[in-house]
Amino acid sequence: MNRWRLIRISLWGATGLVAIAALAVTLPQFLSVSPTQLVKASNQAVITAEFSLVSHAGEPVTQENFRGQWLLIFFGFTHCPDVCPTTLNDISEVMDALGAKAREVQPLFVTVDPERDTPVAMAEYVSAFHPRIIGLTGSTQQVKQAAKNFRVYFQKVVQAEVADGYSMDHSTLLFLLNPDGGLETFFTYATPPEDIVARLEEIL
Ligand code: NI
Repeated sequence: MNRWRLIRISLWGATGLVAIAALAVTLPQFLSVSPTQLVKASNQAVITAEFSLVSHAGEPVTQENFRGQWLLIFFGFTHCPDVCPTTLNDISEVMDALGAKAREVQPLFVTVDPERDTPVAMAEYVSAFHPRIIGLTGSTQQVKQAAKNFRVYFQKVVQAEVADGYSMDHSTLLFLLNPDGGLETFFTYATPPEDIVARLEEIL
């Protein structure tokens, strides 16, 4: 057997051993995870928590600007009659209830209606709820991309009776991202604020 063949065989042998060792380590972990951990793992895989948008102060921002903070992210629009005001009210209650710990949490409200929700409109809107909420908007393309990354659905709906003749349908999940930008969990619409507070107090 020549020297190169021997080296090749040894390399394959070593690779095989590493693969078996890796399986031996991960398999028991995989089998022992709880259903919620599995759900969490699969959600982390499908959501890319990335965005390139414009803050309500008119500054370009990406997810990198918020590294090191827990992010509560909600997609909606300022003309929303119910879901968005309710959620932003809930977020405000959460922030107040967290007290000093609220410093580690940054709530973001991303518009799905950039046509009307300019930085100025966003600034005015979010400030009516809580001084810590940052509104994010951008070009139609930027907003579409951010929503796509978060798997957020939205759709313009013609409605003759409302302002400007249209409304926006949108998903209502409230995302919680960890300081590394990974999805920690999400809350469905109308989750009681005290439940969100309880979850955050476990983490912070
Ligand atoms: Ni809404």
